[in-house]
Amino acid sequence: MLIAGKPCRTIWPADDGAVEIIDQTRLPHAVAVVRLGSLGDAVRAIADMQVRGAPLIGVTAAWGLALAMRADPGDAALGEAAQRLKAARPTAVNLAWAVDRVASALAGLAPADREAVARSEAAAIAEEDVAACRAIGEHGADLIAAIAAKKGGAAVNVLTHCNAGWLATVDWGTALAPIYVAQAQGIVVHVWVDETRPRNQGAALTAFELGQQGVAHTVIADNAGGHLMQHGRVDLVLTGADRITRRGDAANKIGTYLKALAAADNGVPFHVAAPASTIDWRLFDGVAQIPIEERGGEEVTHMTGALADGSIARVQVSAPGSPAANFAFDVTPARLITGLITERGVCAASEAGLLGLYSERRRLAGI
Ligand code: MRU
Repeated sequence: MLIAGKPCRTIWPADDGAVEIIDQTRLPHAVAVVRLGSLGDAVRAIADMQVRGAPLIGVTAAWGLALAMRADPGDAALGEAAQRLKAARPTAVNLAWAVDRVASALAGLAPADREAVARSEAAAIAEEDVAACRAIGEHGADLIAAIAAKKGGAAVNVLTHCNAGWLATVDWGTALAPIYVAQAQGIVVHVWVDETRPRNQGAALTAFELGQQGVAHTVIADNAGGHLMQHGRVDLVLTGADRITRRGDAANKIGTYLKALAAADNGVPFHVAAPASTIDWRLFDGVAQIPIEERGGEEVTHMTGALADGSIARVQVSAPGSPAANFAFDVTPARLITGLITERGVCAASEAGLLGLYSERRRLAGI
């Protein structure tokens, strides 16, 4: 996708063995590239959300293992690196999935071979993510095209929450990929962008990337979605996911569940877009079983933004001394999800729907 008209990715290997990322804590006010030269750099970038979004933290963790193997390719270092990376953020299963994939590729190898294999595995995960997101875009664009046809070509109004665009992946995105593909097909799309408190991934990141791509959009307060749905101003809700259970429950940024409730009450289709790396086949009941990250309360009590002179400032928005709780994700039960958009197509949010697309899982589960 584009920044200032130039194709860009969120993460890439540097010539000297390091890895480079776009620092998402600086967006939209600055496009700054940060170098990750060690395992510690990768862990910090994930925990501090310089990189964020389920697929992207998975890819960063894969590169993090490669950086760890550069410093020490021994068995103990491999085990410790895998553990530190997995502990950086708990909710998105893509992180553990990517770490396990790279670690198992390295397990039987001589230490001298591990860095090179970890690098090629990380690069493969990144390329597969790009292909999966592109395919999600194609499948999801069919849904948008069908709505556009029903509306006689009038703009399709999509509401999205958080950032599940290319900044949350390596390229293309999940929930926003269908919008980019639809736009390329000449379909007129307008996006309602939930600001997404407390960290404002919608106002800061989704609005930024839609603007760079020339997609019409409007930033709204988080609580405006229900009102817009009641007045027929939302045709479709599209969100991403951090973990989808076997029966189709989906964890995503805090507030997603409330949008799904409002969508169900108003007959608005609510679709969740995610690649296979986001599906946790071991879990069924998302509310009971998906670990929900709790972050520091200062993300709720304070906000960062640009002053009129362009300088960046952090201000307190809550009453001094009031405690704050910061639940980073919630779970939308499958019954509120109209469909899952995956790289293999669109399916019902149910075990039967998922197994219809990922039939190889039947054998693994003995079904
Ligand atoms: O806390 P974040 O910014 O990492 O949360 C991101 C989300 O909730 C996204 O919607 C999700 O990871 C899907 S990304 C394609």
